[in-house]
Amino acid sequence: MCGIVGYVGQRSAAPLLMEGLRNLEYRGYDSAGLALLHQGRIAVCRRVGRLVRLEEALAETPLEGHVGVGHTRWATHGEPSEINAHPHLDSEGRIAVVHNGIIENFSELRAELQAKGHRFVSETDTEVVPRLIEEERRRGAPTLIVALIRALARLRGAFALGIVCADEPDALYAVREGSPLIIGLGENETFIASDVPAVLRHARRVIYLRDGEMAVIRADRIEIRRLDGTVVQPEIREIDLQPEAAERAGFETFMLKEIHEQPRVIRGLVRDHVDAEGRPKLDDLGLSSDYFQILRRVMIVSCGTAYHAALYGKVLLENVTGLAVETDLGSEFRYRGPRIERDTLVIAVSQSGETADTLASVRLARRKRCKVLSICNVRGSTLARESDAVFFTNCGPEIGVASTKAYTAQLTAFVLLAAHIGLIREELDPTRVTELIAGLRAVPDAIHYVLDRKDSIRAIAYKHHDGPSSLYLGRKFNYPTALEGALKNKEISYQHAEGYAAGEMKHGPIALINEYMPVICICTRTLDEVYEKMISNIREVEARHGRIIVVANDGDERVRALAEDTIFVPEVMDELSPIVNIVALQLLAYYAAQARGTDIDKPRNLAKSVTVE
Ligand code: AGP
Repeated sequence: MCGIVGYVGQRSAAPLLMEGLRNLEYRGYDSAGLALLHQGRIAVCRRVGRLVRLEEALAETPLEGHVGVGHTRWATHGEPSEINAHPHLDSEGRIAVVHNGIIENFSELRAELQAKGHRFVSETDTEVVPRLIEEERRRGAPTLIVALIRALARLRGAFALGIVCADEPDALYAVREGSPLIIGLGENETFIASDVPAVLRHARRVIYLRDGEMAVIRADRIEIRRLDGTVVQPEIREIDLQPEAAERAGFETFMLKEIHEQPRVIRGLVRDHVDAEGRPKLDDLGLSSDYFQILRRVMIVSCGTAYHAALYGKVLLENVTGLAVETDLGSEFRYRGPRIERDTLVIAVSQSGETADTLASVRLARRKRCKVLSICNVRGSTLARESDAVFFTNCGPEIGVASTKAYTAQLTAFVLLAAHIGLIREELDPTRVTELIAGLRAVPDAIHYVLDRKDSIRAIAYKHHDGPSSLYLGRKFNYPTALEGALKNKEISYQHAEGYAAGEMKHGPIALINEYMPVICICTRTLDEVYEKMISNIREVEARHGRIIVVANDGDERVRALAEDTIFVPEVMDELSPIVNIVALQLLAYYAAQARGTDIDKPRNLAKSVTVE
């Protein structure tokens, strides 16, 4: 999604704004720009393409000033172009606005303003904002903040805004309604940003603006108001992330770093959520044991990778807790009139905690008086604040657009949650819980083994990356693994890939199989008949000359004999195998992308957090 930065202080704003935008590049964008206040005027510089284009322009024509805003745009209304890049101005060039989100009623506002003589220069929804403020000033608003409040009252949709005005040379305005925006407090200087990594180097304290709030920011003081004008007390939080946490730590990409962080993240979750007796420790979750005892149903709602975690959570929770569990896509849930009542626990899974479709699903669940438990990675996120209970995955910032450590942390969260609920409902006997937790403790080392085999995985990826499409097959706990492996490949290598339930292949996709199609089969050992069924599916692929790549357990020569290429992974409990197996597929996708020369951390068209519907 779009990225917003802003600065007010004693230092030159342009370099700080550019640094902030660079730290927000992971959000995905197609153009960028700055606006600075200097000597009573607003100077703007915008470029289409990567930030380096903007940096070149600023090197040629530096912008001075100590107050300003910056923006990276992910096009929603109007093509990626310099004229559509933010900041956008009013007709006199006295107000500059940067925006993240969508103004749903911009067409009618645009027509109204055009009827008053405004000549729009861009195709964006954003451009109505500075012009509405201008109109309110023309109509006699006594102060800029009154003009702003009146103009904002006209907007419908989701917006985070950064605003500067030439008539207030020492002030920066920030508005949050449906899209995230934080205020970073430095030493006699203040920042605004869409996310914490943008300000990590300069601010150790942060204010998370809430929906319906705005801030008037000067270097040494901040006033926060609700959009109706009432003043509110800011809640200041310490940032507990170190700047290097958002750096690459020597890895060639954030994604590769984050793939390698997975053992540490899982070890941390086990440390924090397992007691000395080896039992799950989730008492601070925010939902009582009594609640879990009377609970009848669970509905898990999420998007993208988080949806694949939901599919895994469903199989595990039903397996371990005796609960009936459904899943749905955030973008479908609210439109199908879901049958959920107070007896349903809605679990929302989201790395960012800002995904619009997931948030909308949660708001529907609350209107139906369901309890909401979120599995989320960002403290202070909208989802975390709107849930009755939160399981924080504590991965640290996930910068790579393609989710990796957040996914395996979500799977781990489901394991701990299932054990916790299973124990409370006496569906899981204590020995089984001990086995499950002991199995979980073995997962980080198993992942290290997979990471140590990255060279052989890279060779397989380089061998198979150039076909038009690939098929990923898995069953039961590893059906979601097949879906997630395919999504990783699509997202970062741009090679089409389809994840399928292996048993479903004969109902259609088998028609696709030929000697040019890599078919990735997840066939780690299971205690039930699934392992044999998977072997039968591999034989069906072999009979049609598919290019078989298997994920198999160490020493499994039977499966290896069926495949062209084999990725061996250590054997862990079947229920936990997806946490290990997916790492092999993350690396397979990573090296396919490397072979195809794509921008792995910032894949085309993708955003890290989809805060629009
Ligand atoms: C995952 O690799 C993608 N970046 C995307 O599918 C993502 O999982 C989805 O947009 C949901 O994001 P969230 O977890 O922040 O809600």
